[in-house]
Amino acid sequence: MAIIVTIDGPAGAGKSTVAKLLSKKLAFAYLDTGAMYRALTLKALNEKINLEDEEALVKLAKVTKLDLEDNPAGLKVLLDGKDVSQEIRTLEVTNNTFYIARAPKVREVMVDWQRSIGNKKNVVVEGRDTGTVVFPKAKYKFYLDADIAERSKRRFDELKQKGKDVNKELLTEELKDRDNKDLTRKVGPLKKAQDAISLDTTKLTIDEVVNTLYKHINKNG
Ligand code: DC
Repeated sequence: MAIIVTIDGPAGAGKSTVAKLLSKKLAFAYLDTGAMYRALTLKALNEKINLEDEEALVKLAKVTKLDLEDNPAGLKVLLDGKDVSQEIRTLEVTNNTFYIARAPKVREVMVDWQRSIGNKKNVVVEGRDTGTVVFPKAKYKFYLDADIAERSKRRFDELKQKGKDVNKELLTEELKDRDNKDLTRKVGPLKKAQDAISLDTTKLTIDEVVNTLYKHINKNG
C-alpha cells in the first residue's frame, strides 16, 4: 500500500516549500493539488468560460488533460500537454481559483484526479482538503499555519524575488480574502483533519519545519 503524507493549511503557511523538500528527503513523489485548481482556472480564463457556470466548468474539466511532472528542477505543470508552470502563478489566476474551488462537481473531478495519482505511489500531497476529503485514510497528516503578517511577508518576499513590484497592504488584503473563501466554501473547505498534527510555522525556518515532519514520520515508522 502506498504511503500518503498530507499537508494542508492556508496560503503562505509554507506548504509548498516544505512538501517539496520533505518529498525529496523521503524519496516520495510530490503532489501539488493547488496547481491543479490553478491550471483549470487558467484554461477556463483562456477559453472565456463563464466562471459562474458550474456545468460548463465540469465539462471543461472532463476534457482536460493535466499532468504534474515532478522534476529535480521543480514541478512542471502540463495542461493539455503545454507547460503552464509559470502562467498558473499569475495574480489573475490566483484571484480566480475560487470559482473552480467552490464548485462541488468540479471538485469531484479534481479529487478523482488526485486520488488516481496518489494511490499509485508513496506521495507527499499538499492543499486544503487533502487530509479531510482526498485522502482521509492517509498515514501521516499535517496542518501548517502561520500568522497573517508572516504569511503576507513570505508572499511579498517571494514575489519581490521574482522581480514583481507588489503593494504589501494589498497583498495582505488578498490573502485574507483568499483565507475567507477557502475557509467558508461548502465543499472541501480548508480544515484541519481531526487526526492531523498542527504546526505553527510563524517562527520556524523551512528546515525546522521539514525536520519536525520528517522526524515524526520516521519515529512512527
Ligand atoms: O495552494 P495554492 O495557493 O496554489 O492553491 C490555489 C487555490 O486552489 C486555493 O486558494 C484554493 C484552491 N485549492 C483548493 O480548493 N483545494 C486544494 N486542495 C488546493 C487548492
